[in-house]
Amino acid sequence: MPYLGVDYYPEHWPKEMMEEDIQGIKELGENIVRIGEFAWHLMEKKEGQFDFSFFDGVIQSLKNKGVDIMFGTPTATFPAWLASTYPSILSEDEYGHKRAFGGRRQYCFNSEIYRKYSARITEELVKHYSSENSIIAWQVDNEFGHEGSDLCYCSNCHNKFQIYLSKKYEDIDHLNESWGTIFWGQNYNDFSEIPIPTPTITTHNPSLKLDWARFRSASLNSFAHEMTSIVKKHKGAEQQVTTNVSGGFFNKWFDHAENVKPMDFVSYDNYPVWGGLEEPIPPAEIAMTLDFNRGLLDKNFWIVEELMGAQGHDVIGYLPRPNQAKMWSYQAFAHGCTDMLYFRWRGMTKGAEQFCFGVVDHDNQYGRKYKEVQSLFHEMKDYEEVLQAPIEAEIAVIYDYDNVWSWRSQQQSKDFEFKDELMRLYRPFYDLNTPIDVIPYDRELSAYKVVVVPVMQIIDEQLAEKLENFTKNGGTIVFSFRAGLKDKNNNIPFKEPLPGPVRILTGIHVQEVEALSAWRDLITAETAEVLFEYSDEFYSQYAAVTRNLFGNGKVYYIGGGLEDQAMNMIAKEITVQQEVSITETEECVEVYKRYTDQDEYSFIMNHSDQVKIFEGHSLQPYESKIIKH
Ligand code: GLA
Ligand code: ZN
Repeated sequence: MPYLGVDYYPEHWPKEMMEEDIQGIKELGENIVRIGEFAWHLMEKKEGQFDFSFFDGVIQSLKNKGVDIMFGTPTATFPAWLASTYPSILSEDEYGHKRAFGGRRQYCFNSEIYRKYSARITEELVKHYSSENSIIAWQVDNEFGHEGSDLCYCSNCHNKFQIYLSKKYEDIDHLNESWGTIFWGQNYNDFSEIPIPTPTITTHNPSLKLDWARFRSASLNSFAHEMTSIVKKHKGAEQQVTTNVSGGFFNKWFDHAENVKPMDFVSYDNYPVWGGLEEPIPPAEIAMTLDFNRGLLDKNFWIVEELMGAQGHDVIGYLPRPNQAKMWSYQAFAHGCTDMLYFRWRGMTKGAEQFCFGVVDHDNQYGRKYKEVQSLFHEMKDYEEVLQAPIEAEIAVIYDYDNVWSWRSQQQSKDFEFKDELMRLYRPFYDLNTPIDVIPYDRELSAYKVVVVPVMQIIDEQLAEKLENFTKNGGTIVFSFRAGLKDKNNNIPFKEPLPGPVRILTGIHVQEVEALSAWRDLITAETAEVLFEYSDEFYSQYAAVTRNLFGNGKVYYIGGGLEDQAMNMIAKEITVQQEVSITETEECVEVYKRYTDQDEYSFIMNHSDQVKIFEGHSLQPYESKIIKH
């Protein structure tokens, strides 16, 4: 049976409630809970005084009911005594303000003191429970880099950034040349003169901004990997290690695939809606986040925080309709989730998350949401074989964090949002109900039929060659605008007509560009054929969308913010030509096929508040089901 459970914080409640809570959790049909992730002070009330007796009792009570455990290492929320003794551990914002103790994750990844104390609590905790076989997995920290915690501008980070640069460039002239510091007379005589990108007049050097992003990623991942290696060194042989990935991963300053590399599996926190949103994010975008997490280790994943109740810190959001959160759970399982925990057993009455509602609300009644989770667990408990089955996508969407950070450091168009441009190309294929991998650009591509390359402005010769080979061998590529504009220093190559290293591959020449809210690459077709042209006067001589034959394959170039209808046509044409397996459904009905050695299944989700029909199956509003063929 898959692991199905809730996030449980027994330390939030009177001890005498624990047995009743665990019984209520058990009656949901659960076999696992996650505990511990924010309880550092409970384990080390004073420096060096470790006491795990509270959790010893919790674990014994859970074992008595046959409930296994995922234990979170507590480094996301350090004790007040640590911050008051060593204020240098507190991170700083770009204005030089130290972040106050009081929220969470306000630590500096480069603080040696923070690393020392984090390493010690992690080691003491994991050693204490290494032979506890009811603990089946460790979660390292909580949502690395979330809520703005991936950036710190303290003097320690500044100093470490300069060291990072000296190692990368070796001599200062090489850095000056690579960054083009001659511009605005910014030549450095020494690495110690180099700033971090705190507020200035106008803007910083683009190469500096990209190297700063790379340094932020290296800092966060170095901390994460140090803590992970401590867990792996001291954990029991059967205990696995993971970390929980938050949403908004393309708005973070760290490479997620690098972050989870030492983990046994990826865990994701799936929140289709959060405080302040009038409605959930679109079904296609939820799907993309799931595919992204499956792509991190190229394997199925866990969800350790699945939304059931409305969520928000100081602002509450949309309330999932009956069965809507359950339908999102079906969608997550369809896209490769193998094991799921709902966030959280009971909403807390005190502290910052009074409005992060759980399975049970403050009244402690087992109501609608309790029954919805119970029904999900009852329905899903017999599908372990399907859930564990690998997903074989024929389409891949590739991304590169250097490229994401390049766009974030100079968005060129005031409305530009990388995730939206990735979705412009992802959604039309999602709507055809075909599995899609969302993977880093340096993965092997030869097994795919279609590779989608959204707004990849940094394309080096190596990637260009890989894409050429993919196409020569019969693949189809879909580029969108600004492809090949920049090099790895975040600069524009001189005397290289666009789209740079993929000019032959795309069979076009981009003469000029305009970056309003609607983007325009003004294209002259060379070997490519023109599919769409711009309508208005000035642009009418240029192509907007082209298709080029290259080797045995085809290359589409979407030169602007093409609207959905046109994108749908292109996607459908490609899937037909490439014989990609698709399932046509009416709007808001998602179908995801999964296969075991013997059988074929369809996960069907109705994302709407209307009755829908699929192949004779009637789907009530937000209904979801699995059909075995
Ligand atoms: C995040 C965190 C949790 C909690 C929830 C609330 O996912 O991991 O600790 O803050 O959000 O929705
Ligand atoms: Zn710092």
